[in-house]
Amino acid sequence: MDKALSVLSPEALVGAIELLQKRGIEGDPTYERFFAARLVLSKAAWDGFAAAIGGPEMATGIAQFPLSADWVRALLQAFDRTPPITMRREDFAEGYVWTYDLRSVANLNRVNQFRAATAELMALVGKFLAEHSTEIEEVCGHSWRVASVRAFAPRPYAAGGRHKDGWPLKMKKLFLLPAGATPQTGSTWFRLRTGEEIIIDHPDPLWMIFENSVLEHSVVTPRGGRRPTIEIDLLPAAQTDPTPVDAGVNGWYPWFPSRASLIDGTKGAYDLACRPSFIRGIRMAMVGSPPALAIRRKRRALMAERIMKEIQNPERPS
Ligand SMILES: [Fe+2]
Repeated sequence: MDKALSVLSPEALVGAIELLQKRGIEGDPTYERFFAARLVLSKAAWDGFAAAIGGPEMATGIAQFPLSADWVRALLQAFDRTPPITMRREDFAEGYVWTYDLRSVANLNRVNQFRAATAELMALVGKFLAEHSTEIEEVCGHSWRVASVRAFAPRPYAAGGRHKDGWPLKMKKLFLLPAGATPQTGSTWFRLRTGEEIIIDHPDPLWMIFENSVLEHSVVTPRGGRRPTIEIDLLPAAQTDPTPVDAGVNGWYPWFPSRASLIDGTKGAYDLACRPSFIRGIRMAMVGSPPALAIRRKRRALMAERIMKEIQNPERPS
């Protein structure tokens, strides 16, 4: 990434940066600065958007519901027909947050058997979401739309410790679990909003919604058996829209709440990254942001670390 990109229109800049990202530009200092700046602007944009959407918070951070026999049959059938796939780092849609670190991608492939988002599976997910759209809205406390959909089954390998996902807080995960979830087949430990700790132990089919960036959670490694999972990541939205979105298996959620904010945010982050007064620019971008932007989550802390390094060892922009 260099200053040559500055001749592009903000719209074209989005496409150019997508191309660069897919090519892999580790170690490029300007890109590292762009990455940090985009993260700050993204958090600020989503926090502002979520505040405007409003709505009550979830009581415990988790809601679980039984899955009907008809849904179980249809989902298991569709899941079993999806071919296994390997997550590739570059498999993400334009404007999406993706797992950047190759070791993390390898680890995700080690602990999960990913499956293709076939047309059959996506159509079924769309039907499920449309049928349950009001219920989902009630659980979330706000209107919603789909960020991404991925299907997988956990493999019997140990994975990760206790963590929060570090996404914008109003985003949530919905899991369809047509074969249930138990400590035997693979489950999740949660610390609820109330402080109570639980492990999902539900041999019967279920669907559940949880606040992946509010609740601390960790994988309970499966000991055997099978736990097909269809994950649907949800975004706060001005209006509920149950249309499923295939953003690629490594596409998690959009950096920005709208196309216009993606263009603005990308241009803003690029300008900050190219500016000698990078740190001051970042600070200014944070001024006036909601208090939720306080440095307290891991990704924010990483960014702060980068910024500290930059303060101690200023580098000239290329
Ligand atoms: Fe997680």
